[in-house]
Amino acid sequence: MVCFLASAFFFVLQAFAAPPQADVSLNRIDLNSNEDGSLSPPPGTSKRPPHSIIIGVRKGGTRALLEMLDIHPEVAAAATEITVEKTPGYFTSTLAPERICAMNSSIKLLLILRDPAERVISDYTQVYFNRLENHKPVQAIEDLLVRNGALNTRYKAIQRSLYDIHMRNWLRHFPLEQIHIVDGNLLIHDPLPELKKVERFLNLPPRIVSSNFYFNQTKGFYCIRSDGRERCLHESKGRPHPVVNSTVLQQLRSYLQEHNRTFFRLVKRTFNWQ
Ligand code: A3P
Repeated sequence: MVCFLASAFFFVLQAFAAPPQADVSLNRIDLNSNEDGSLSPPPGTSKRPPHSIIIGVRKGGTRALLEMLDIHPEVAAAATEITVEKTPGYFTSTLAPERICAMNSSIKLLLILRDPAERVISDYTQVYFNRLENHKPVQAIEDLLVRNGALNTRYKAIQRSLYDIHMRNWLRHFPLEQIHIVDGNLLIHDPLPELKKVERFLNLPPRIVSSNFYFNQTKGFYCIRSDGRERCLHESKGRPHPVVNSTVLQQLRSYLQEHNRTFFRLVKRTFNWQ
């Protein structure tokens, strides 16, 4: 598929529109950096354009996917390096698809999605904790989800979960075959099969194996074992969610249902979302 915009226009767009905040770029050198955008590589190393981008979705499990992919010796390793970048905000950005296409129309896109209602709650939880840390006032999730007795569909966390709308935007610039969707719910409960599919999509030799994962009872999630080290994701990943009022949750789910159906048609695939 040919990009709609020529590369030259891409640079014009670059100049006029700030890119969505890249929360981390994956080279091995970058992986240990904070998610604060400070990505200058250490002396003697360099940053190169990614072969693949994890485009989102925010709170879909992007960090877990990135760290699990990093187990693979050919991901972000020397010589035959495949660099992967993660920028969760891309999926919901209206500008990102055309800009990425102009940069590299054959780039392989990875998209990790989870149940969109759960994603809304996860999104709320992240903002809630950020606000607490910054001593800002917080609201109950129901106060954000409901306005004047009806579902507040303008709430950003809901907007980000309208996967069909965002996907349509990407499919204007990339063929479906170039976008691999990782099931974020499956990645939580059984990461290996999802990782094997990603290996195949990236044409990588199969190197990630079951012993690379172990379930950590305390964390309640799978953690990673590689290079003789064991590590779990940061404590901000996998936090308990608030219990949402069942009527409000039902309202949210029924609003999302039609969007989910449209999304399934677009990607010619269904997901086990309630
Ligand atoms: P919660 O913290 O709401 O549970 P992202 O990295 O895109 O922000 O996504 C965060 C989500 O990744 C977490 O949301 C969590 O559910 C999910 N996740 C998937 N696999 C995980 C793992 N092995 N450890 C921790 N969180 C994981």
